[in-house]
Amino acid sequence: MHLVNDKHSHIFLFMQKIIILDFGSQTTQLIGRRVRELNTFCEIMPYNKFPQDDPDVIGVILSGSPYSVYEERAFHLDFSQIRGKYPILGICYGAQLMAHTFGGKVEPEGTREYGRANLEFMEEGNPILRGFSDNSQVWMSHGDTITRLPEGFRCIASTATVKYAAYAANDEKIWGVQYHPEVFHSIDGTKLLKNFVVDICGGKQDWSPASFVDQTVTELRQQLGDDKVILGLSGGVDSSVAAVLLNRAIGKNLTCIFVNNGLLRKNEFTDVLRDYECLGLNVVGVDASQKFYTELAGVSEPERKRKIIGAGFIDVFEAEAKKITGAKWLAQGTIYPDRIESLNITGKVIKSHHNVGGLPEKMGLKLCEPLKWLFKDEVRRVGRQLQMPEHLITRHPFPGPGLAVRILGAITPEKVRVLQDADDIFIRALRNWNLYDQVWQAGVVLLSDVKSVGVMGDERTYEYPVVLRAVTSADAMTADWAKLPYDFLADVSNQIIRNVRGVNRVCYDISSKPPATIEWE
Ligand code: XMP
Repeated sequence: MHLVNDKHSHIFLFMQKIIILDFGSQTTQLIGRRVRELNTFCEIMPYNKFPQDDPDVIGVILSGSPYSVYEERAFHLDFSQIRGKYPILGICYGAQLMAHTFGGKVEPEGTREYGRANLEFMEEGNPILRGFSDNSQVWMSHGDTITRLPEGFRCIASTATVKYAAYAANDEKIWGVQYHPEVFHSIDGTKLLKNFVVDICGGKQDWSPASFVDQTVTELRQQLGDDKVILGLSGGVDSSVAAVLLNRAIGKNLTCIFVNNGLLRKNEFTDVLRDYECLGLNVVGVDASQKFYTELAGVSEPERKRKIIGAGFIDVFEAEAKKITGAKWLAQGTIYPDRIESLNITGKVIKSHHNVGGLPEKMGLKLCEPLKWLFKDEVRRVGRQLQMPEHLITRHPFPGPGLAVRILGAITPEKVRVLQDADDIFIRALRNWNLYDQVWQAGVVLLSDVKSVGVMGDERTYEYPVVLRAVTSADAMTADWAKLPYDFLADVSNQIIRNVRGVNRVCYDISSKPPATIEWE
């Protein structure tokens, strides 16, 4: 572990790390998460940005790729940066790229190899395969195969259809596997990664929520000194954990601002504000609902709604922040997946990082992002380490523009009331039926430009339909509709139609993402 300056001139305490070079595979982030689960720090870098002067690197993993190594557009690596310097593990494309570059041969397979297979070992006791079960199941997904290994390399495992399922170099610390150890269906996948990271690279497994909290608190104290810091709370897990961490480091020098844009869930503003106060945070709650309703009146186009809400938030936040004299920093709950530079299809590096509309620059504040190295599940583990209440840690994600993107059509306070009441019934029922933690995200959508006929008593009604949306997901990139029990759906439907004035019909959205999205706007 040692001290370094990063580009924002923050001091960071770093420990040994694995570098995962990304060649564009969809499972690259999963490799990162698996390595972190071994309590070893890792960073995902684009394939052409290997950090050459980083003394903490202990090993390199090469990811998969959507391309074939012999294609013109394929991504190549200058191996002189890593070969002979670090242990290397190539996964799928990574394994094929090494075979191809070092003098072997990779060819199209004809049919795409996809799904489960079983390993047959070609030698006893190779360190990368230590502890594997006989016929260990692995998960394949590739359209190419290595047909000849380079000189100085040997096969250590095969499957029925893939001769070089795993290979090793004779005199170098290099291994390649033509399957995906990072996915759940590769039974000994974690074992393989552990063999590489811990036994071969010497990872000490000292990256844990407790060590993260200790280090980050020390680092924040060094970085911030007696400076004042402002943080925008959203009620979500990331900004809440960031706030509690900063509070532990600098106490009352942190001021949190929680804005009610009138589009939060029912009672959320008061409930969450109370939670924050119980956590000892110095928090200012600003109820700006009326401003947002006024600016949104008559607007039904989703992107305009988003822009109005984004700009409105900045106005309110800036006005509040100006009252805090001497503030030098803006803290945000940015997490690692928000910042990973990913490769787009043309091989260009893209950054998905979005901070609050350029606020730090506009207000002349420096940016502080204490969670910027963490994956979402690690943020939750850190939250537990900080003894935050479980209901704050396990909250479903909620979009920044709030219920605005769940009211299709123009927004009025009355429609917000209808949606809040229906949503509250749905979320409470999920909790009561112990289903809340089984879904990634849930909410209700109000189709406010549609009315349909119903009967209530002797009267015909002509009212709004609402749609229940609940999905399972790992990262919101893809999602499936949650297979909630019929009895549960019937209960929610009855409660909504009986209790929410203005709604006479309840539908359940059974679309997955893609091609649909989680939100309706
Ligand atoms: P979609 O609808 O794209 O949503 O499948 C993926 C995730 O992103 C959230 N989401 C948003 N979050 N501002 C946000 O802060 C937005 O405009 C926005 N739109 C979607 C959505 O709730 C889901 O978790």
